[in-house]
Amino acid sequence: MRSDINYNRIIDDDEFALAQAAADAAPSMPAALIDPNQFYVRQLYDRYSTENHEVWATLVRKRMETLHDQASDVFIAGLEALQLTKDCVPEVVKVNERLNSLTGWQSKPVPGFLPAKAFFACLANRQFPLTVTIRPLDRLNYLPEPDIFHDVFGHVPLHANPVFADFLQTYGKAALLCEDPYHIERLARLFWFTVEFGLIREGGRVKLYGSGLISSIGESNHALMSEDVDRRAFDLDRVCSTPFQIDHYQPILYVLESFEQLRDAMNEYASEVLGTAAPVLA
Ligand SMILES: [Fe+2]
Repeated sequence: MRSDINYNRIIDDDEFALAQAAADAAPSMPAALIDPNQFYVRQLYDRYSTENHEVWATLVRKRMETLHDQASDVFIAGLEALQLTKDCVPEVVKVNERLNSLTGWQSKPVPGFLPAKAFFACLANRQFPLTVTIRPLDRLNYLPEPDIFHDVFGHVPLHANPVFADFLQTYGKAALLCEDPYHIERLARLFWFTVEFGLIREGGRVKLYGSGLISSIGESNHALMSEDVDRRAFDLDRVCSTPFQIDHYQPILYVLESFEQLRDAMNEYASEVLGTAAPVLA
């Protein structure tokens, strides 16, 4: 449902309806027949308002005050490689031109919420579903649902890194093809504690890379500095066994030693989930 007309004016109504219907039908389809290209819509860039651009510029300025110091070098390198605009909402097609030459990933606007199977089909196809709407000026610090700031600024810079890019596609393939509820729940936890709320050790310091931390001033400080956070060494089996809660700051976070560690652990787990000894990624 479109809850706020201002959020959705960036998307054409007819495209919205068709794409959402295709995404909603995905869970009942065999994985091999799901075509994620049916879920995508255009970002009608000219429809962003002056306020929309001001929100983007304000959020980028506020976050960069601390991210140069707090964020993973890999995130900062991705931000620079993609040349994300600082003063206005980025045009997705331009981001994709740079991303394509780096890792072959693409960012794809979607109408809104995607069922899990539809979301995984996008990742398996090296495509990241994006919300293209942006939060209003009076809700800068907190928005329960994703918006283009969370999705593009928070997620997409890591897609410019070949190691993370391969991890995310392998994750998508495993999650798309997995039929076992036990593993589906474990894979959701893995996503949460890495892609959304992951930490990484670089040069002896713990830094941020999860998009939920990158895009949140309050939670990023809490994640790095609070004595109430249990920062554990990454271990895939332990991560997958840890339940998470979505309605408050995370009391448990996992710290990678490198993105190669994450990629290699995912390759191994994907083989286990899919019942094959062969690596999922060619
Ligand atoms: Fe996210």
